[in-house]
Amino acid sequence: MCGIVGYTGKNEALPVVTGGLFALEYRGYDSSGVAVLCGGKTEIVKKTGKLENLMAALEKAQLKGTCGIGHTRWATHGEVTETNAHPHTVGKTVLVHNGIIENYVSVGKMTNTDFKSTTDTERACALFNELYERCGDGLQTITSACREFVGSYAFLVMFKDEPDIFYAVRNGCPLVVGTADGGFAACSDVAACDFGEYYKLSDGDVAKVTKDGISFFDKDGAPISKEALTPKKSFSAPDKCGFPHYMLKEMEEIPTVLKNTLEAHIKDGLPYFEGVEDEIFKNMNRLRIVGCGTAYHAGLVCEHISRRLTGIEGDIYIASEYRYSGHKLNKDDAVIFITQSGETADTLACIRMCRAQGAYTLGVVNVPTSTAVEECDGVILTHAGSEIAVASTKAYVTQLAALYLIVLKMSLVKGTLTEDEVRGLCGELLNGVCAESRLSDTDKITINRIAEKYSECRDMFYIGRGLDSVLCSEASLKLKEISYVHSEAYPSGELKHGTISLITEGVGVFAILTDERLYLKSIGNIEEAAARGGSVIALCKEGFCKDKNYDLIPCRISNDLFAPFAVAPRFQYFAYCMTIIKNLDPDKPRNLAKSVTVE
Ligand code: M6R
Repeated sequence: MCGIVGYTGKNEALPVVTGGLFALEYRGYDSSGVAVLCGGKTEIVKKTGKLENLMAALEKAQLKGTCGIGHTRWATHGEVTETNAHPHTVGKTVLVHNGIIENYVSVGKMTNTDFKSTTDTERACALFNELYERCGDGLQTITSACREFVGSYAFLVMFKDEPDIFYAVRNGCPLVVGTADGGFAACSDVAACDFGEYYKLSDGDVAKVTKDGISFFDKDGAPISKEALTPKKSFSAPDKCGFPHYMLKEMEEIPTVLKNTLEAHIKDGLPYFEGVEDEIFKNMNRLRIVGCGTAYHAGLVCEHISRRLTGIEGDIYIASEYRYSGHKLNKDDAVIFITQSGETADTLACIRMCRAQGAYTLGVVNVPTSTAVEECDGVILTHAGSEIAVASTKAYVTQLAALYLIVLKMSLVKGTLTEDEVRGLCGELLNGVCAESRLSDTDKITINRIAEKYSECRDMFYIGRGLDSVLCSEASLKLKEISYVHSEAYPSGELKHGTISLITEGVGVFAILTDERLYLKSIGNIEEAAARGGSVIALCKEGFCKDKNYDLIPCRISNDLFAPFAVAPRFQYFAYCMTIIKNLDPDKPRNLAKSVTVE
């Protein structure tokens, strides 16, 4: 989502700021802008669309100065226009903002400003300016203004008569400051700047960043000290490595990252999670899992597997619902939070809510430097490496791997499986499943051919039973988010309770069939859809559906329990092919952001 970068030091600010914006680009944005402070004046350039548009404008504008801020905006309040893009300026104040100021209407009314934009940010900027005009002190202005805001924010603020200085302040949105490029930088993601050492701001912290150093203050303006951190170079810089799209590269990496994740959490043949006591799993009498989007779908698979292997049922929650659900927890409860980025606003809010009630919070997280890693009591890292494409592919598969191991751990400590059984299943995961997740050239040709055939299809219904039915939710999300084909996921048997009225000639029916026990039931449901004109694709276990007139995507599955690892890469590749055939960009689908940092 929105990204912010700031720099002050002995070098020109613009290359550092725009370099940071490019590094944040993958998160998704629809406009961008920069401001450079020089000689008591600020110059601002903003553009809608890709960063290339901003760069072209900057070439003409030739902004010079050693203190500057920049922003990539993902519109929340107000449409995508240059006026609504950041930086915003009112009087002597110039700022960029991530997050949402919820009480922006009343904040705006506290000032006497003729607003140009429809954004909450300009209202906040006006309040900063009003207070600055009164006291003439940047730090005091920041702390006083922040007392008035309701909502989430990370701000970088410059005042025109405070040369070479910017302020950084946060509440609920990530923000780091540190040494970089012969000066000092601030950024919403530590990976986007080339930091020497850096400091993570906590909610309420203010950093005053000058060309000579950084000082930290609490929310009342009292000096505080912060611990210096060294960036972990665990994630390689974004690079397509010759692939036309990140999504394709990331799908290719699935067998490798799956192996990495499994190897990181299997020790002596059994599941192992460093820093997480066995007691946590022993005490889990109910599986509670929270996540959004793909992460939520991974949770649904986990619940299914848990029921099968441990007999323990679960409650899987969408984070934006869970946070306002009023669920009561106590210190004996544990909640699992799944998040690739570790920065999803709703998921973070749920972590805080559960911690406040004394429950144990266990994060299944991909980004090791993320807020979720910092805030959860225990963390199980997925080792997918950096995932740049908006559509989650390899991260989902590694989430599944970590969750399967959690269930196996539960089975072991609760005694629902013997040690030998768990060891056997861990071995199968490591040795068989990684291979089954790999797509051969023949697989790719088949899937691409089927995608060509269905490329004009406007509606696609994903259907399956049992475990296949929960996989359908993710398969459907993948298709709609990047190819813009309307799709829905249904348990096969549920179609005839209403939805089958939508199945007519030309409607796509994408069936997932991997479970021997449910095979005939599933076929019955597929036939009901086919009889009404639905064109059927069957992603199925090798040998299934041979006598049927379906478009087949067969896959080798040696153990039904592990079917998701063979099935997911195939439905992901199908969504990718549909998108490429439609000449759309799978890495940056419209309206979406990689990391959803507002609620
Ligand atoms: O970073 P997170 O795992 O917390 O993100 C959750 C969702 O926003 C994310 O999975 C989203 O649904 C993806 N775009 C799906 O491909």
